[in-house]
Amino acid sequence: MMYYRDQFMPESDVRISPDDRGYYFGDGIYEVFRIYNGQLFEKELHYKRLIRTAEQVRIELPYPIEEINSILEQLVRETNTMLGTLYVQITRGEAPRIHPFPDKSTKPVMMAYCRDADRPLAAMENGITAVTADDIRWLRCDLKTLNLLGNVMLKQSALDKGADEVILHRNGTVTECSASNVMMVKNNKVFTHPADNLILHGVTRAVVLKLAAQTGIEFAERAFQVHDLYNADEVFSTGTTGEVMPIVQVDKRTIGDGVSGPITRKLQMLFTQHIERGSNK
Ligand code: PDD
Repeated sequence: MMYYRDQFMPESDVRISPDDRGYYFGDGIYEVFRIYNGQLFEKELHYKRLIRTAEQVRIELPYPIEEINSILEQLVRETNTMLGTLYVQITRGEAPRIHPFPDKSTKPVMMAYCRDADRPLAAMENGITAVTADDIRWLRCDLKTLNLLGNVMLKQSALDKGADEVILHRNGTVTECSASNVMMVKNNKVFTHPADNLILHGVTRAVVLKLAAQTGIEFAERAFQVHDLYNADEVFSTGTTGEVMPIVQVDKRTIGDGVSGPITRKLQMLFTQHIERGSNK
C-alpha cells in the first residue's frame, strides 16, 4: 500500500505523470524516517526539517503537518511495518515543462510508502570501508531535496573502487558521506562538520550529539581535514538507515586499530538504548 495524491492505494495502482516536476527537475523534497517497534523514530525532528526545506524551496506542504503525521502513522499501521523505513516525498506538482514555478493552482504531489528494513547489525559490529572524493554537489546540501545526482554519482564511484562508502571533502575539508553524516574521534573527543549549508543536518547526527552531551563525551562541531581523518582514532557515520556505523578504513589506510573503537561502541550502545526506551517522538 502507498499514499499517493490524497489517497491510500495499492502500489500497482499508482500512475505517475511525466509532467510531475519531481520527474523533470528533481523539483521536490523528501524525508526518510526510521520505524522501530511500529513507531516513527524522532518524528518531530524529521517534520521540522521537512517544514524548513519546504519553506526554503517554496513548496507549500499539501496538508498541515498534523495531517501529514496522521497519514504517515496510518501508513505505518496499515502496512504493519514494525522495523523499517518510511519514505515520503512532496513535489511541486504536475505542469508542462517550463522552468518557472507553475501556476498557483498547481497542487504539490505527496507520495509515501513503508519498507521493511533490519538494523544493519553485522556492519555495525565489523565496520565498513570508505574512500574520499571531491564534494561535487551544490551549495545547499542542508536542504533535503530530490536532486541527488551528485550523491548518486559519488556513492557509485566508491562502490566502483571496492569501498562501501564515500567521505566527501571540499578542498580537503571533510563535509559528510553520500547519505549520512561523518564524525571522527581524536583523543577521546568527537568532531563533526558544523550544521551549515554544506551538510544535511542529520536527525541521527543531532541525536548522537545529544547523547554525547548527556553522557559527558566531549564533542565539537568543527570542520576537519582529510589528513585528520587518516590520523583519527575512530571514524564513524550517522544516518537513518546505518545508525552509528564504524568506518575502519579510509582510502586503504587503517583507522585506529581497524575495528570499531570504544567511543563508537559507546555511542552505538546509547543509541540502541535510546531506541529501546521508545523515545520515538
Ligand atoms: N539520507 N547526509 C545526507 C546527504 C543524507 O542524505 C542523509 C540521510 C544524512 C543523514 O541524515 P539522517 O540522520 O536524518 O538520516 C546525511 C537518507 C536516509 C536518504 O537519502 O536515504
